[in-house]
Formats: sequence, structure tokens, C-alpha cells
Amino acid sequence: MTDLDFLSVADLEIQALRDVLDRAAAVKKAPRAVRGRLDDMKVGLFFEKPSTRTRVSSEVAIEDLGAHPVVLKADEVGLGKREAVEDVARVLDRYLDVLAFRVFHHSDLEVLADYAAAPVINLLSDLEHPCQALADLMTIAEHRPLQDTVLAYVGDGNNVAHSLMLAGAMTGMQIRVATPEGYGPHDDFVRLARRLGSAGGGTVEALHDPAAAVKDADVVYTDVWASMGQESETATRHELFADFQVSLSLFDTAASDAIFLHCLPAHRGEEVVHAVMEHDRSRVFDQAENRMHAFKALLLYLTAL
Ligand code: CP
Ligand code: NVA
Repeated sequence: MTDLDFLSVADLEIQALRDVLDRAAAVKKAPRAVRGRLDDMKVGLFFEKPSTRTRVSSEVAIEDLGAHPVVLKADEVGLGKREAVEDVARVLDRYLDVLAFRVFHHSDLEVLADYAAAPVINLLSDLEHPCQALADLMTIAEHRPLQDTVLAYVGDGNNVAHSLMLAGAMTGMQIRVATPEGYGPHDDFVRLARRLGSAGGGTVEALHDPAAAVKDADVVYTDVWASMGQESETATRHELFADFQVSLSLFDTAASDAIFLHCLPAHRGEEVVHAVMEHDRSRVFDQAENRMHAFKALLLYLTAL
């Protein structure tokens, strides 16, 4: 067992990221080859926010690898409320081999990682969604080589955008993020992605013009305008983000073979129109499937098996 954690895409070295992506593709092709590989390991899954893809893909991946998922209910654990995060970490560390957590506060993941020897995986926080980025790159790589691929992310500069920027920059992609003013990715993530990009060959541009971002792009990506926990801002955001909808006419300005991606859940008629979700170049359900293959590859990497 390693003492690696996966709180951020940047926790992986560039070569490790490439290896995990290659492994994920291999696992998808030959799932039986890794069946039972994590025999008898116990993996804790904890969710402070709702989930469909992450919950099911990780649970199925764990079972397929021969390990046992232990699903923890946020209201029963009361992370940081019923019990200090430090104490939860040290207790769970005595029972479990891997801790995978979806939390409101990224800082809770950092405390868990500090206090638990077991690998800690970020299943989504306010800052990042690194497991999603693995599936995103895996899906893009099924379409074309990552190097020099132009990806236009249109919408909110959120957790999904942060992880995608980091992963894209590390693998030589050209990432254009177009958001309304004041809703861009955090400067720290732009700086980190650019620094990683200088080693990985990738670039990151933060823009406020969706047309400029999407023009001739190879991949068009969006996510909800109000993330989980931001529901009270929904109405305001709808007004501010109206020009950032991925419409058919916007998608048509991308490269003629461009694919559409969305981490899901999608809100048709808001950040994306139905016709783009259902477009013959929409890959959103391959992307959702790839969450499972990518999670297997990640677990194998973190447990060094
Ligand atoms: N994309 C994603 O993480 O979906 P869930 O919130 O349903 O897990
Ligand atoms: N940005 C979204 C992603 C959901 C998978 C959220 O955090 O709610």
C-alpha cells in the first residue's frame, strides 16, 4: 500500500497521470484481467452531497476488483460536527484500506489525508473533481490524441473546470475556459495549471467570450451553472450565464468533428440545449461509463497493485 492521496489532479506526476489513463483504457478493453486484483480490501465511500455516477461507478469498480465498498452516510458520520475530522480519519484508518470522500470543504480532505495513512480520494469537493477529469481525458483520448487537443470549457469556473484545466495542461492540451466576469476559475488553479503545462506542453487561457473559446475547438465541455451547495444563487446565475449556453449554433462553430462533453447531471435548456446533449457527436454517456474504468485504474495505482 502506498501513502499517495488523490485530492487533486496535481497529486499525480505527469507520467503517473498518463499511466492511469492508459491503464483505464486497458481495463475498459479487458475488465476480466483485473477482476479480484484488490482481493478483500475495504474501501470507504462517503458522500456529503448527492451522487449518481460517482456513487455507483465507484461501488461497482470496487466490487469488480474484489474489494468491499463500505458506504458511509454523511448525516450519520457528521464530519466535523458529530466528531472532529482528525478523529474520523484515525478511526476509519483502522478499518479501511482506502478512504474516498465527497465533501463540501476541500480542507476536510486535507485533514483526512494528514491523519489517515490510507490513500484518500477526492470524490468531489468545492475546489476539484479529479476523478471526473480522469474520465474526461480518457473519453477525449478515445476520440483523438490529447496532445494539442483544443478544449473549450464554457460556463462556471468551478471544481470540474479546475480539475480539467490541470489534467489538460499536464497532458499537452490547449484549454480555453470561458466564463462570465467574476465566475472564472480561481487564479491559483490557473497559475498551477500553467506551471504544470510548461512541463506537460499544455496551455490555459481564461476568457469571457464563449464564441472565441469554442471556435474550431476539438472538444466543447460544460457543467451546471450552480453547483451543489449553490442552489440559492440559481436565479442570479441564470441571468448572468445566459450567453454561455452551449447552443447548437455555438457547437456548430467548433471543429467539424468536435465532440461534446458534460460531467452530468445536465440541465437541458440551461447550460446546454437538448439538441447538443443528443447530438451524434455528444459523448456524455461514454464519459459517464468511463468514470468506472478510470476509478479502477486509480485504485490500482494508489494501492500499487
Ligand atoms: N459527474 C458526477 O460526479 O456525477 P454525480 O454527482 O452523479 O456523482
Ligand atoms: N460542479 C458540479 C459537478 C457535479 C458533478 C457540482 O459540484 O455540483
